Amino acid sequence: MSAPNNTYDPVEVAALAPDAVQRIQADALAAIAAAADLDQLKAVRIAHAGDRAPITLANAEIGALPPAARAEAGKRVGAARGAIRQALASRQAELEEERDRRVLVDEAVDVTLPWDRTAAGARHPVTTVGEHLADVFVDMGYEVAEGPEVEAEWYNFDALNFPPDHPARDQYDTIFVAGPDGAERSGVVLRTHTSPVQIRALLTRPLPLYVVSPGKCYRTDTLDATHSPVFNQIECLAVDEGLTMADLRGAIDAFVTAMFGAGLQTRLRPDYFPFTEPSADVSMQCHVCRGASTRPGGQPCRVCRSQGWIEIAGCGMVNPRVLVACGIDPERYSGFAFGLGIERSVMIRHGVADIRDTLEGDLRFSRAFGMEA
Ligand code: DAH
Repeated sequence: MSAPNNTYDPVEVAALAPDAVQRIQADALAAIAAAADLDQLKAVRIAHAGDRAPITLANAEIGALPPAARAEAGKRVGAARGAIRQALASRQAELEEERDRRVLVDEAVDVTLPWDRTAAGARHPVTTVGEHLADVFVDMGYEVAEGPEVEAEWYNFDALNFPPDHPARDQYDTIFVAGPDGAERSGVVLRTHTSPVQIRALLTRPLPLYVVSPGKCYRTDTLDATHSPVFNQIECLAVDEGLTMADLRGAIDAFVTAMFGAGLQTRLRPDYFPFTEPSADVSMQCHVCRGASTRPGGQPCRVCRSQGWIEIAGCGMVNPRVLVACGIDPERYSGFAFGLGIERSVMIRHGVADIRDTLEGDLRFSRAFGMEA
């Protein structure tokens, strides 16, 4: 006599035993729950639901069971597969949602951030002051004239009545430009002042002539608190019939008012420049102590070193020899000129002690003078 179903011995197919299937399912569910991201879940899916996963292999064993046992084993394995599939699907959904949420946070655009992170620049006071002064003279009927910074020695010196061996040339600490053949003296220099623009204007423009010329100049000076090998000057030249030193004085006063404000007296003292005769240096009353040489409390004025006056420019009546060099009749025409350093004026006006501050291009320096247009 044989027992019913005695051909089914679950021990024969160990993988299909209820506790084995349960373990497979439990392992799979634990691995699924532990998958921290979509990549890990993908690996878990292959390991626990792929072709070679324990549950898949168990499923394949069902066919080897006697028909009577298949239904029960099939149900068990099917339920386990279903549970694993469902766990995979819900973990997948969970991880996708998590990823989407993270992407939204990571890639979020904060619309409250300032949109312009580029620091705004500021025009340099040497530029704005140079332009302002030129404008003041343009308002009075002057024209702006420019010339090259690499200049012929003839314009920089000879035509301005510096004879070739005149000691005045040495005072100009000239940077000479070497010739193409390496010759030290090519007849070309970096202009040492803006005065050569006077010559260019006199040679090319009709008379009467009123020009103002701001521009860069170069000298062999070593950079220190008061010297720079490159600096800016502004030059004023008028040639007309009947001009006198009174006209020069008026132009200088207009300049001082434009630069330092109204009410400061100017003073001319004899000086020497080859291109003017007579020549003078220009001082103005100190704009801080206004000529008093002391501060209100009685302390000495540091700005003018208690002089009451500050030297600001060179000037004079255009030397007739300069007019002749430019083909102008000195019997009919006379002229006046003055020239000065723009950096120096900016330093005096704003109490800047070191010329290097005007050269370094530090925005904090430019901004301190306001964002003038
Ligand atoms: N060119 C002179 C210098 O650089 C400054 C100067 C003096 C200019 C007298 C002038 C002038 O026009 O008349 O030292």
